[in-house]
Amino acid sequence: MITTAPTSTKRVVYLRCISCGHEPELWQIAPQCEECGGLLEVARDLSRYDAASLRADWEARRGGLAARDRSGVWRFREMVAPLEPEDMVARGEGNTGLYAAPGLADWAGVGDLRLKHEGENPTGSFKDRGMTAGVSVARRLGVGTVACASTGNTSASLASYAAMAGMSCVVLVPRGKTSAAKLGQAVAYGAKTLSIRGDFDLALALLQKLAPELGLYVLNSVNPWRLEGQKTIMLETLEALAWEAPDWIALPGGNLGNTSAFSKALVEMKELGLIDRLPRIAVTQAEGAAPFAAAYAAGWSVLRPVEAETIATAIRIGDPVNYPKASAGVRALDGVVTTVSDSEIMDAKALVDRMGVGCEPSSAAGIAGIRKLRAAGIIEKEASVVAVLTGHLLKDPDATWAYHTGSNPHANPLAAVDADERSIRAAMEVL
Ligand code: F0G
Repeated sequence: MITTAPTSTKRVVYLRCISCGHEPELWQIAPQCEECGGLLEVARDLSRYDAASLRADWEARRGGLAARDRSGVWRFREMVAPLEPEDMVARGEGNTGLYAAPGLADWAGVGDLRLKHEGENPTGSFKDRGMTAGVSVARRLGVGTVACASTGNTSASLASYAAMAGMSCVVLVPRGKTSAAKLGQAVAYGAKTLSIRGDFDLALALLQKLAPELGLYVLNSVNPWRLEGQKTIMLETLEALAWEAPDWIALPGGNLGNTSAFSKALVEMKELGLIDRLPRIAVTQAEGAAPFAAAYAAGWSVLRPVEAETIATAIRIGDPVNYPKASAGVRALDGVVTTVSDSEIMDAKALVDRMGVGCEPSSAAGIAGIRKLRAAGIIEKEASVVAVLTGHLLKDPDATWAYHTGSNPHANPLAAVDADERSIRAAMEVL
């Protein structure tokens, strides 16, 4: 029996603006504060929960029969959204692998490295954790059309969950800068897909402006429920580590939804007493898309938007909307922000791929960052690190092919061989 639901929902879970403190209605369509335009967060009175029963219920649900009980998001529902089970649009998201990576730990120079592979979600990225939460809230709100701007993965995920929930879906993507694999998912799942002549930042700004007029429910990570879903990446990781926090959590940073969600989850778990210390957080951006790293280096004085460019198109973002939450989160976790070059990203990706695990370029930015921070003496030699791989290898086949057909350190080039026994035998002699 599930015993953890507090008896009254009054003020246990509520929305709060992080800028002006306004507390709007819990079930409102506007994703941001209508008083000041600030970011909303889902606040919780954690004193109303009992940590031991939460742990027991989360574990018990894992063996359940219903998709929403087994879901790696909804089995943690007390920390996600106070919805009735029939509103939960679940399709087996979460429950992703946590892989030991001793070879990669040696390469990066750290004591222990584990990879939490969010590419194993139904549409191939961590976005499914946020979208199951966001689309379920959309169902609770009774909205007809959901929308997002995207560098690719958000649109693929939203299109899928909207289709499952029977909602219409509109997505805006930057023309020529989204991998065909991701775009193909959005179109195939039935989203109205608008390819705009502009970058992600412009697409999101346009969507935010037009959404109220067009009656669209925005499911970018400005939507606080998205982040509540993404928090479960940390919950699941800590559960798999028997609630022993690692020294560091490493991840790539783009629009900074995960940075915000992970720090929120970790602070909440500490407050609940489920972990007894906070890990530090290491956020890595691509050199050509690094406004967060620049703000960190400047002592958080101000975020200066940039025109972003990187091979890791998923994090080709110059004006991250979650900056206020993410910068507070990094500070709360005594975190660091660094940058890596496109070639460092692709070399790290080749090593993750070669392990048999695989990831898309943006995910590998987080891995390259670990090595760089270790070399700089910031991550300690004996440190235990959990790195989150945000997307699947198949998300960007063009980048993978370009690497292996070029003269790159870890390239495994395709061999063109004549179709006769002698040629094949000769080609195999090198094995
Ligand atoms: N990794 C992948 C594979 C992504 O798709 C994204 C973001 C990130 C990292 C960055 O995460 O925004 O939480 O810092 N992709 C978004 C999209 C922007 O539209 O798919 P973040």
